[in-house]
Amino acid sequence: MDDETARRIARDFSLASPPPGFIDHPAPVWAMLRRVAPVHWLDERSVYLTAYADVLAVYRSPAVSSDKRQAFAPVFGTASPLYAHHTTSLVFNDPPRHTRVRRILTGALNQRAITRMEAGVATLVDDLLDRLADAPEPDLMAHFAAQIPVEVIGNLLAIPRAERGPLRGWSLAILSALEPAPSAAVQAAGNAAVSEFLDYLRRLLAQRRAEPGDPELDVLTRLLQGDAQGGLDDTELLHNCIFLLNAGHETTTNLIGNGAQLLMTHPDQLERLQAEPGLIGTAVEELLRLESPIQINNRLTTAEVPLPSGHTLPAGTFVHLAIGAANRDPAAFGVPDRMDITRSPNHHLAFGQGSHACSGMNVARMEARVALGRLFQRFPRLTARGEPLRDRRLRFRGFKAMPVWLD
Ligand code: HEM
Repeated sequence: MDDETARRIARDFSLASPPPGFIDHPAPVWAMLRRVAPVHWLDERSVYLTAYADVLAVYRSPAVSSDKRQAFAPVFGTASPLYAHHTTSLVFNDPPRHTRVRRILTGALNQRAITRMEAGVATLVDDLLDRLADAPEPDLMAHFAAQIPVEVIGNLLAIPRAERGPLRGWSLAILSALEPAPSAAVQAAGNAAVSEFLDYLRRLLAQRRAEPGDPELDVLTRLLQGDAQGGLDDTELLHNCIFLLNAGHETTTNLIGNGAQLLMTHPDQLERLQAEPGLIGTAVEELLRLESPIQINNRLTTAEVPLPSGHTLPAGTFVHLAIGAANRDPAAFGVPDRMDITRSPNHHLAFGQGSHACSGMNVARMEARVALGRLFQRFPRLTARGEPLRDRRLRFRGFKAMPVWLD
């Protein structure tokens, strides 16, 4: 494609109506944007960044804010449960609240707790594989990928198994309200989900306060206890429990689904993994890089932010960090569109970077290693049964359905 055409496509690029084919195959559009407009203005206040070095610079800049109170007030209304939730969860806060909540949460999601969870995840996965084998029309999303993370977070918070039924629906309703321009129906469902979830958690917390669990195993008990430097107030505790479920749910479901899809469509890489199962760790990093479950993070600049590409973002700019684009930047990754399960180093940005980098990244990695490792061991000839159905949202990347043949 000549520079003139690339410039025209780049000039017209918008997230509200992306170019045809972008959602299915974004990489060629990102390559064009990176070449002719790495800092692409979506409107007079907001930019879309596609170069790895620029995205990294914004994640690490001290002159950016994650606080969304101003942005969410006109969308949700300040009296709504959705507003209370999304403005209290740590991901949309700045210091000092962010620093305090993150310290306590990260302490609770420690490596020891994750290692202890692994055997339980393996049992859960084997159980799901048994049920997948019995399904008349096996769907890797509904019968497998979507079932794992909600149970893992349920275990983390020690939510009784019989009470987990509504968790997935609440989580989907709360997150769907974050899409651009959520309809009245989507907002009503989101508000109802926050209220019901809060009611449920208030009861659970009262029980846990009366009968604390083992703080080495039960993240909720650790969050209740706080740490030597202090604790969370009740509102912070409730909304961050909701956030934990939301943050670790669809993202990890999509990592497992996208990962399975990449491996099924790259038989040479799958064969290599089957011959050398020890490669599962680097393989999961490559799956995260190529098909990142979260595609966009946002920041608001609080002062001028100079970028490595030579541009400067003025104060008050709303920044879209295009994670998927950064992860395919040839300046950061050799032959970026090639899948290489041995790629190392692999400093992808699928978990973000800097002060808000994902606190659950090692939980997600463990889930993906166990789920994908065991899936392809059990069904080595797993193949697609028709085209998978893509989820067409821009922030989340994944599939709604993935019919498969097991042998
Ligand atoms: C493949 C799965 C996952 C992906 C791709 C992912 C991605 C991300 C990204 C990109 C951020 C940064 C947001 C920002 O900078 O604005 C983030 C934050 C976060 N994630 Fe994850 N995540 C995943 C799984 C999980 C899991 C399993 C948990 C919990 C068990 C979790 C908990 C969190 C928390 C608490 C934050 C907020 C950190 C902060 O604001 O300081 N995530 N995640």
